[in-house]
Amino acid sequence: MAYVIGVDCGTSGTKTVLFDESGAVIASKTIEYPMYQPKNGYAEQEPAHWADAMIGTIKAVMAQSGVNKTDVKGIGISGQMHGLVMLDGEGHVLRRSIIWCDQRTAAEVEEMNEKIGREKLIEITANPALTGWTAAKILWVKNNEPEIFEKCRHILLPKDYLRYVLTGEFATEVSDASGMQLLDVPNRCWSEEICGKLGIDMSMLGKVYESCEVTGVLTAKMADELGLCEGTIVVGGAGDNAAAAIGTGVCEDGKAFTTIGTSGVVFAHTSAISIDPKGRVHTCCAAVPGAWHVMGVTQGAGLSLKWFRDNFCLSEKETAKYMGVDEYYLMDKEAATVEVGSNRLLYLPYLMGERTPHLDPDARGVFFGLSAMHTKKEMLRAVMEGVSYSLRDCVEVFREMDINVSDMMACGGGGTSALWRSMLADLYSCPVKTVTSKQGPALGVALLALTGAGIYSSVPEACAAVVKTDKIQQPDPENVPQYEKYYQLYREIYPALKAEFAKLASLD
Ligand code: XUL
Repeated sequence: MAYVIGVDCGTSGTKTVLFDESGAVIASKTIEYPMYQPKNGYAEQEPAHWADAMIGTIKAVMAQSGVNKTDVKGIGISGQMHGLVMLDGEGHVLRRSIIWCDQRTAAEVEEMNEKIGREKLIEITANPALTGWTAAKILWVKNNEPEIFEKCRHILLPKDYLRYVLTGEFATEVSDASGMQLLDVPNRCWSEEICGKLGIDMSMLGKVYESCEVTGVLTAKMADELGLCEGTIVVGGAGDNAAAAIGTGVCEDGKAFTTIGTSGVVFAHTSAISIDPKGRVHTCCAAVPGAWHVMGVTQGAGLSLKWFRDNFCLSEKETAKYMGVDEYYLMDKEAATVEVGSNRLLYLPYLMGERTPHLDPDARGVFFGLSAMHTKKEMLRAVMEGVSYSLRDCVEVFREMDINVSDMMACGGGGTSALWRSMLADLYSCPVKTVTSKQGPALGVALLALTGAGIYSSVPEACAAVVKTDKIQQPDPENVPQYEKYYQLYREIYPALKAEFAKLASLD
């Protein structure tokens, strides 16, 4: 039997799973780490924490499983997208990574639009300049920390830094590189024009591969430390969303998934490139060679519920500990006792600004309609509904782009909630399914590693062999029109507050 390792470097922690070739989980381990927010709108993490977590989790799964190291045929790495890791000529990290949800780069987005032009940027990179994406972060360091920029010789994404730790190679792959805004997305290669106009030396960027290609092998030193064989292959892997697509079998037209993790994403596969001229959803290369995907992003999805839990659900936390159940399970039960619409309470999940459809780093969270009769449980349900309205916004943009979804999967921590899946099914007016494996991105990159190792001949073949549908949530005909009314009202709130969000951001 062959085995592969899937590593997922997320925002709250790194999860590593050892799978056998049929996709069965043999061992799994997660190690968490902090996110630093030195200022409102800033978000940073320490690359050394990611590396330590990867090493710790790989060692743990190997020790737990007792699998012979010669049977481990490959490693796939997935990770949070867009984060900026800068290394000097010796391969040392120069500063904390500025990660995907950081919103400090409004001035650099302007600079990109001036230097390249909005239309040109969309034509080449398939996306408008975005505050959270890597190019704007590189310019921010160049403008604000020139002494660090001067020392920088290598620019990597979070999971590509882990590849460097494992193999010593400076490399990336098309799905994650699409989120740097330096890639020519239609042609799947770095754009000389974009890098030239932004003054970014292309020699700092890693070699670009397709996601299932072999990008390097484990060094003797790392193999020794991890308890694996020197020469074990490391494939390209994928950004967390492209990886989740493979892990949920979204690898052909008509298939899509919604993930509710820290961020929320609605993702659809497309065999022909399709770009939103208004830039409200992202178009990126898929982890399936020669294909693309579109995705809409809600910045504060699971993050909203976690924020609510950490600040207002201390009693649920204690009860959950006492009962030996997950705290989110209790919160779900509480929210389920409230009617659709949370007794006329709406929530806008813009705690970290918003991408789809507003592209507004200044937007902030809102409870709308708060009354003295509301209690914590209405607010809790309103948070879950607000995230769902925001995900429906993404589907609306797909519809405008003629991307039709016939098959919607749900994944991520939020996807395990039957209540949240029912909200999505009612708001999308289509069935929402889960797959039997809950490993999402880790399984996705494991399938890429199985393909890279030659155990499956293509990514779709690996998906067909391993990914199986589990539960199906049908829309409830009574709830659909109810939710529609609330959703239409939700859509009116942001435009009414847009100017006030900007004023709020400019207050000292
Ligand atoms: C996608 C995005 C997030 C991160 C975090 O564009 O920013 O989904 O990948 O996981």
